[in-house]
Amino acid sequence: MDALQVFDFDREIDRSNTGSLKWDVKEGQLPMWVADMDFEVAPAIKEALRNRVEHGVFGYTVTPDEWYDAYISWWQRRHHFTMEKEWLIFSTGVVPIISSVVRKITTPAENVIVITPAYNIFFNSIFNNGRNIVECILPYNRENCSYHIDFADLEKKCSDPQSTLLILCNPHNPTGKIWDADTLARIGEICKRHHVTVLSDEIHCDITLPGTEYTPFASVSETCREISITCIAPTKAFNIAGLQTAAVCVPNEELRHKVWRGLNTDEVAEGNVFSYEAAIAAFRQGEPWLKALLEYLAENRTYAEAYIKENIPKLRTVHGEATYLLWIDCDSLQTDSETLTRRIEEKTGLILCDGCEYRGDGIHFLRMNLACPRSRLQDGLERLKKAVQ
Ligand SMILES: Cc1ncc(COP(=O)(O)O)c(C=O)c1O
Repeated sequence: MDALQVFDFDREIDRSNTGSLKWDVKEGQLPMWVADMDFEVAPAIKEALRNRVEHGVFGYTVTPDEWYDAYISWWQRRHHFTMEKEWLIFSTGVVPIISSVVRKITTPAENVIVITPAYNIFFNSIFNNGRNIVECILPYNRENCSYHIDFADLEKKCSDPQSTLLILCNPHNPTGKIWDADTLARIGEICKRHHVTVLSDEIHCDITLPGTEYTPFASVSETCREISITCIAPTKAFNIAGLQTAAVCVPNEELRHKVWRGLNTDEVAEGNVFSYEAAIAAFRQGEPWLKALLEYLAENRTYAEAYIKENIPKLRTVHGEATYLLWIDCDSLQTDSETLTRRIEEKTGLILCDGCEYRGDGIHFLRMNLACPRSRLQDGLERLKKAVQ
């Protein structure tokens, strides 16, 4: 049977009055901003949670062995990277890990480097802890709407003795770019040379175009393995961010001890009964659902890119191979993206992310979340067309 027929991604689910960050909106508004999906989770996840609810006792919980096995076999099978059980530590989220690592691995007023534009909350984790945000801005090629890393700039920023941590987004939110093994190895060499630890946020790694794979940073060389702290989670791909379940993988023993102490001191290393159950069910039984989802998301991306090209020629799209986010170049409108998103919302009710929040050249970009039923995507694109006109 065609995988797309088994799971109904076309169904519009009313998320109002569920305490949803995304859907707490005014009448008639259409939120296409924050990175969560408007789809129901895989049946296996619902079933696992239902069974746990039925048990009826929800006392203090330890990380079960099945949790480690679920991560290890998923990464081995899907990402060709073998993690050892002791490399993994549970945490309540990727952002809690990042903030904790910033506090533990760096000291106040040191530099944390971010390759920008990048996921905006990285900046909060750095700034709120009194460290300096140092941007390594990705040069943008307007001819073919693509980005690449400026290695000379990265080397310069890393060579400052005040620089001690690099936060990498792999694959990259917001552009959807998958960094190849050579790029990752080069980043690793530069960081190693200048004693900079790499935190690789790989939360989006399971959302790639069908037939496309991402490369775990720690897998490309011994150097990358030894200097890296990798954040992974089922939350983006399986749409369970509200269950607060993530993991950090640190192969190097000394570094791992520090990370572990940091997470424990910050009290973000213990899960609740549902966070373990959901992660285990996702990685053990969620693959057919994910396969169908990736096909649906790829069609959404193709649809959105073609629609914008034909109907809103003033906008251009950056073709991402990962994430369900579309990075839209609005430079020709000659309005900064903050003003533009505000006007789009006022005129049409469509809520997009303002690219300025991602720094780098984000002032010329909008970010649209494509993870919704096709009918909703069509509605969003029509509103965008109306607003631009
Ligand atoms: C790159 C990236 N990291 C982390 C997060 C959030 O992770 P968590 O909900 O586990 O804190 C997001 C959410 O959009 C993200 O895009």
